[in-house]
Amino acid sequence: MMKQIQKAADLQAAVSEAKKQNLSIGLVPTMGALHEGHLSLIERALKENDLVVVSLFVNPIQFNNKEDLEKYPRTIEADLALIQKLESSIEKKATGLLAFTPTVDEMYPQGEPKEVYHFGPVEEVMEGPRRPGHFSGVAVVVRRLFDLAQPTRAYFGEKDYQQIAVIRSLLEQIKYPIELVPCPIVRADDGLALSSRNMRLSPAARKMAPAINATLEQAAEMAEFEEVDDVKEWVLDTLASFHEVNECPDDLRFEPEYFEIVDARTLQPIADWDEAGDLGAVGCIAVWLDGVRLIDIVKF
Ligand code: PAF
Repeated sequence: MMKQIQKAADLQAAVSEAKKQNLSIGLVPTMGALHEGHLSLIERALKENDLVVVSLFVNPIQFNNKEDLEKYPRTIEADLALIQKLESSIEKKATGLLAFTPTVDEMYPQGEPKEVYHFGPVEEVMEGPRRPGHFSGVAVVVRRLFDLAQPTRAYFGEKDYQQIAVIRSLLEQIKYPIELVPCPIVRADDGLALSSRNMRLSPAARKMAPAINATLEQAAEMAEFEEVDDVKEWVLDTLASFHEVNECPDDLRFEPEYFEIVDARTLQPIADWDEAGDLGAVGCIAVWLDGVRLIDIVKF
């Protein structure tokens, strides 16, 4: 049975009890507004660990835009119901499930944390320069969650691909023996990557949005015979001209912010497919549609 915990001290007590019994602990950090993507992480954690901690906390220090923080959906009761429903409907290893729902004061009892993390080149590309302070804010909360939950494994979705590289680098810096488990994107039937932001799209924009994934899939096919720069240019042009070619209503259009083809580990742009290292190459996109910023990835 899922148990909701609001106090850090209560979470620590439950974790130290589990540690005494040598139980494995799976941590799924979230900001709530759960969808099938989050549920797939929780399901995997429940199948692979004895105790699972799901955190639901809208972390103010990772938002560099006040409006974005205010607009972020807060649906805690519905989230808890979804977790409970999942728990009772699957085969699992876990015998315990804790939903950790702290307040901001509980997470940051000393006020806004002063610590700042740096990740070098992995944060100097794509989201990094566009969202100053974002990854440091993510690292602060994730480290705090690591300290409280002391997980054996931590689960993160691959939609936020750069975040995974940043957490990998955080783990190297702090040397915690935690297994980072990247989990594949969950998509709607029409291919759109699930995101809490999708609910902000108008019906017409929602209909258009799957073109992002469709374009990326075509790009993956092109990669077999085209150069990196040509694939990049094609993706950006295809999305930027989509509204003209498809006569979209209400002047709806895609406004790509970036599309980068990078080494999947270092996140540094590659100029040639052969430059990709052990994890291969990945294409990462951020595109505006209907006032909503959508991100997605494709593996090459
Ligand atoms: O990916 C998210 O939802 C957040 O960045 C995370 C990892 C829960 C930290 O607040």
